[in-house]
Amino acid sequence: MHTGTAASPQHWWRDAVIYQVYVRSFLDSTGDGIGDLAGVRAGLPYLKKLGVDGIWLSPFYPSPHHDHGYDVADYCGVDPVFGDLAEFDHLVADAHRLGLKILIDIVPNHCSSEHPWFRAALEDGPRSAARARFHFADGRGAHGELPPNNWRAMFGGPAWSRVTEADGEPGQWYLHLFTPEQPDLNWREPAVGDSFDEVLRFWLDRGVDGFRIDVAAGLFKHPSLPDSPDPEADERARDSVNPLAWNQPEVHQVWRDWRAVCEEYTARDGLDRLLVGEVSVPTPREHAEYVRPDELHQAFFFDLLSAQWDVDAFRKAISEALTDIAGTGSTVTWVLNNHDQVRTVTRYAGESTEVGTARARAAALLMLALPGAAYVYQGEELGLPEVDDLPDEVLTDPIFRRTGSRLRIRDGCRVPLPWSGQASPFGFTAAGSAARPWLPQPEWFAQHATDRALTDTRSFWHLYRDGLALRRSLPQLGEGTLRWLETEPAQVLAFVRGDGLVCAVNFGLGSVPAPAAGAPLLASGDCPPGILPASTAAWWISDPAATPDTPKTPGNPANPANSTDSTNSADSSKGITS
Ligand code: GLC
Repeated sequence: MHTGTAASPQHWWRDAVIYQVYVRSFLDSTGDGIGDLAGVRAGLPYLKKLGVDGIWLSPFYPSPHHDHGYDVADYCGVDPVFGDLAEFDHLVADAHRLGLKILIDIVPNHCSSEHPWFRAALEDGPRSAARARFHFADGRGAHGELPPNNWRAMFGGPAWSRVTEADGEPGQWYLHLFTPEQPDLNWREPAVGDSFDEVLRFWLDRGVDGFRIDVAAGLFKHPSLPDSPDPEADERARDSVNPLAWNQPEVHQVWRDWRAVCEEYTARDGLDRLLVGEVSVPTPREHAEYVRPDELHQAFFFDLLSAQWDVDAFRKAISEALTDIAGTGSTVTWVLNNHDQVRTVTRYAGESTEVGTARARAAALLMLALPGAAYVYQGEELGLPEVDDLPDEVLTDPIFRRTGSRLRIRDGCRVPLPWSGQASPFGFTAAGSAARPWLPQPEWFAQHATDRALTDTRSFWHLYRDGLALRRSLPQLGEGTLRWLETEPAQVLAFVRGDGLVCAVNFGLGSVPAPAAGAPLLASGDCPPGILPASTAAWWISDPAATPDTPKTPGNPANPANSTDSTNSADSSKGITS
């Protein structure tokens, strides 16, 4: 995060790096095997040392945990398993004392079937005001025995479940795009929006700096809930989009309203509040519509996360993001990992974990060099691979429960973090506790424990720490311009940031000549001057006179003769455009 100058204060979120805390797997202060808010609080100095600008907390609200808190039973409370409101307040205060922002996860598309709204809807019966908060509908077929339409749930099975009415007879159906324990809210009913307005204010009044918005392209469904032309689409891929159930134009007004609430708080104290959306839509252009100046500040750009380790796929994702988002005035929000995806080390592994590790390190350096904001998922800074051999009986992901398949399960990226020592629980649970971590940690987690990472200057942790430190001090990084360099061979992705920071990544299998002279400022692996080894990324300052503390004057990018004339300027207010 660059802070700007007094004359031109920069909006902190535009190039912030936020660390995603998956609370139940971060640090357990009570010894019950589940991470909690006091654990997060204890870990704040660690995160400060890493150099991130803030944290996003996964849901900690009261919940029956059918989907680990993404089934919220009370939007204004803390589940006792994670602590209480007083603990939350302490966490906010400590974070702010350390200069860290706090974002919380808000889940407006659906609530828990245990939420009082849904209980009232069941009790009050068909056509009641309580049912209007949800999508209740009569079934098709002679006796209403068929669901109202053919939509499929994202986590397997039909998107509709039938309720038993007060008379004991099968009755109406309700819509749930995820599990039956997560009924979708009906945003066409004004009471829903009014309630969320109160929820936002409740947390803003407690001092949060913003919200990560779950399923932000959901909320509105096609008003007549027609059959999907391709009912299997949602079954095939998690982020495929049933165009009738997602991304309806009305959703944008919600984000305008929420942005106005944020601006209201900013007007009081001058501090920006942030809305970052989980926006899964088919094209970068549609994505860009969510970050227009009066809507969300940020939306995770998932195309980079879903790209294979392939130079063309990465170049395409980055180019499209920069081109489409630039027009909105926002910045791109890059992400490589989160609590729903196979971790990069494993995703890029190809033939071996060593290769995956080298590629994940390179991808991290690439992400930190891109213009805009970035999110780092806990354990990413430790180079954790996916735990892909958890036995069936310990899996908790509802996707496994509902599909019976291990294909898309998410437990493997949610295994509790290793902090210290040689054996599970690796310092994750409070000392002396007999409780086991809620998911078993493999023995090989020892290699990744934070105590080891902190002392090994070649660790992932140091790469992130050094990259983040340079991002803070170098004016070329964070927000600003990116200009592609044409490189030979084509397996290399290279660009210049601002007035002369070169970043290059070698996606190929052999070493290539480096696209910039001299020793790199930072590299993801061994990188002698003049050479860029396979699966390696590096940063160079093209003018050796420029150091982190002596910002350069514009001009003179590395290898200017090879640079393309395509400009992707996320913001032309800083640095040069070519
Ligand atoms: C989002 C969350 C995911 C959750 C789903 C339903 O995609 O990231 O973890 O299961 O929404 O709330």
